[in-house]
Amino acid sequence: MLLSSLVALCATFSTAHAVTVYGQIPLAQTITPTDPAAPAATTLAAYNRTLLNPPALPNPLPATTYELPLQRDAAAASGISIPHVGGGFWGFSIEMSVISQVLGKNSSLLQVPFLNLMANLQERAGGVVIRLGGNTQEFAVMVPELEDGRTFGKTDSGSTQTTKTPAVLYTIDMFYMANNISSMLNVKWFCGIPFNDSVNWRLTIAEEAQNILGDNLLALQAGNEPDFYVEFKRRVAPYEPADYANEVQNLIEVMDNNPRIINKNMLLGPSIASAHWTPADVWATGFIDRFRDRMYAFTVEHYPDNNCAAQFNTGDVHKIPQDVFPSYLDHQKVVELVSPYYDSTALSTAAGKPFFMFETNTASCGGFAGMAWANFTHGMLHVGGQNVFYNPFTAPPTNQSSYNQWTVGSIYYSTIVLAEAFGKTNTSRIVDLTSTAGSTSTPSYAIYENDVLDKVALFNYMDDNTGASNLQVTLTVPNGGTPASVRVKYLEADSVASKDNITWAGQVGFPLLPILHI
Ligand SMILES: *[C@@H]1O[C@H](CO)[C@@H](O)[C@H](O)[C@H]1NC(C)=O
Ligand SMILES: *[C@@H]1O[C@H](CO)[C@@H](O)[C@H](O)[C@H]1NC(C)=O
Ligand SMILES: *[C@@H]1O[C@H](CO)[C@@H](O)[C@H](O)[C@H]1NC(C)=O
Ligand SMILES: *[C@@H]1O[C@H](CO)[C@@H](O)[C@H](O)[C@H]1NC(C)=O
Ligand SMILES: *[C@@H]1O[C@H](CO)[C@@H](O)[C@H](O)[C@H]1NC(C)=O
Ligand SMILES: *[C@@H]1O[C@H](CO)[C@@H](O)[C@H](O)[C@H]1NC(C)=O
Ligand SMILES: *[C@@H]1O[C@H](CO)[C@@H](O)[C@H](O)[C@H]1NC(C)=O
Ligand SMILES: *[C@@H]1O[C@H](CO)[C@@H](O)[C@H](O)[C@H]1NC(C)=O
Repeated sequence: MLLSSLVALCATFSTAHAVTVYGQIPLAQTITPTDPAAPAATTLAAYNRTLLNPPALPNPLPATTYELPLQRDAAAASGISIPHVGGGFWGFSIEMSVISQVLGKNSSLLQVPFLNLMANLQERAGGVVIRLGGNTQEFAVMVPELEDGRTFGKTDSGSTQTTKTPAVLYTIDMFYMANNISSMLNVKWFCGIPFNDSVNWRLTIAEEAQNILGDNLLALQAGNEPDFYVEFKRRVAPYEPADYANEVQNLIEVMDNNPRIINKNMLLGPSIASAHWTPADVWATGFIDRFRDRMYAFTVEHYPDNNCAAQFNTGDVHKIPQDVFPSYLDHQKVVELVSPYYDSTALSTAAGKPFFMFETNTASCGGFAGMAWANFTHGMLHVGGQNVFYNPFTAPPTNQSSYNQWTVGSIYYSTIVLAEAFGKTNTSRIVDLTSTAGSTSTPSYAIYENDVLDKVALFNYMDDNTGASNLQVTLTVPNGGTPASVRVKYLEADSVASKDNITWAGQVGFPLLPILHI
């Protein structure tokens, strides 16, 4: 089963290399799986082996042989995006409560598999952006020290929200961990200012992140999903976009009077979940003009679906993963995820600011067992704990980390595909060609670098081992000349439902063939 193919018209692909980490000591004592102390297999969602059945083929089957007309010059490519600058399109959003599982125990015990996963992306995209935060940032508190040299601990915050978030305790070492990672890899960071109490702002994270991370800190989030604050009992109704905007104003005034905060103009907002407020509701408060000089970027967070009923027994009807699976293999659903933000990306671009999807993944509340064309600058894929299905990568439970390997989820491969598609020139522009040719089951994109056609990415969401749904796409470029060679790369798996054995195959350069079989 071919999941996608990337046709590079002139670029060459690089191969990944691993990071060499000096001075790291093993994270846990060695226990062998046969050791009586070794725990049995876990039933946690992050390790769940459920494989869904590939959805039925569309009926009628879309055309499998077609011509994809392309433009050589970006100027002629209607609807093409802004250039994508810096550090790869996909980044990661790491929930504060799981930083120790993912990044490591402390600044001298970093998780080497994590470093290698980031190195794979750096090799292709030049760098990676990571957000440390999420719901757990709101109640997070820095403490002088924690037992056993730990950098993170938890205490009950008494929070009443759906995802039952415990308060995270961390030490100053969290910033040294992040900075130590940035000293080995081009990883840049976002942190979040706790918003649970807008009377007594806790600005330690802003002070220490700026002082310790320096240029490796890109920005600080001001409020996480404020449109959920009433539902999560963090604010008393009525709490409207104008109230949130006034809190941001107040935060700015307090930051201005804090000499330990060096850079006063690196905020991110409004980061609404687009659940109770629309972006337009927030823009109507004058948010963009009022705060643009203080903002690094404007942000939203959104998941295309949710699995809250099943994960937290909320009393609502549980969604059946098999039933929702087809919506993840449908280009129309990708368009529906980003289309509510077309006006917002246009307003941000006009204000000279990037626009980020600061947190997303398959579905909120842990997921079940794909946005650059719309002018988002980064999308941050959320990494939750061991009770979620959607992690791009998951560490083994702490007490198995000496003999079990990390699990790389299929979500991680999407970050590799985009990293290769965009490359690291900072000039990549992308255009969605699905309305030109193909179908919602066979979307296609063209990627331009330095305003000239460079790559084409073709997807085939249909799962058909008979070969009857294989595509034959003819690429035509009027006045494009004939490239001396093209390189074709296939992302392959046994089926569209596979969690394992997802591989890059067919990484070959060959003389130009006018017809590409995918
Ligand atoms: C490993 O951790 C799990 C989950 O915390 C626990 O149930 C189990 O007893 C632990 N096993 C060992 C050998 O410590
Ligand atoms: C995996 O998740 C599914 C869906 O929640 C559940 O039905 C199944 O029991 C889980 N499997 C294990 C081994 O926990
Ligand atoms: C791309 O942008 C990033 C971030 O601004 C910068 O670090 C990098 O050097 C740039 N790369 C090129 C090739 O200009
Ligand atoms: C905010 O969170 C801090 C740290 O968890 C806690 O001490 C404080 O009481 C909270 N404030 C409010 C108003 O919830
Ligand atoms: C990290 O934890 C180890 C093991 O507990 C400890 O020896 C080391 O001092 C800690 N490092 C830091 C920077 O706290
Ligand atoms: C890594 O963190 C430790 C603090 O635990 C610090 O002493 C050391 O200088 C850091 N290394 C780098 C390269 O930042
Ligand atoms: C992205 O930005 C470009 C340049 O401003 C614009 O022409 C294009 O229509 C935008 N795309 C979307 C989906 O808004
Ligand atoms: C991966 O593919 C290999 C070779 O086709 C096969 O032997 C193996 O069972 C597959 N592994 C999984 C987990 O599907």
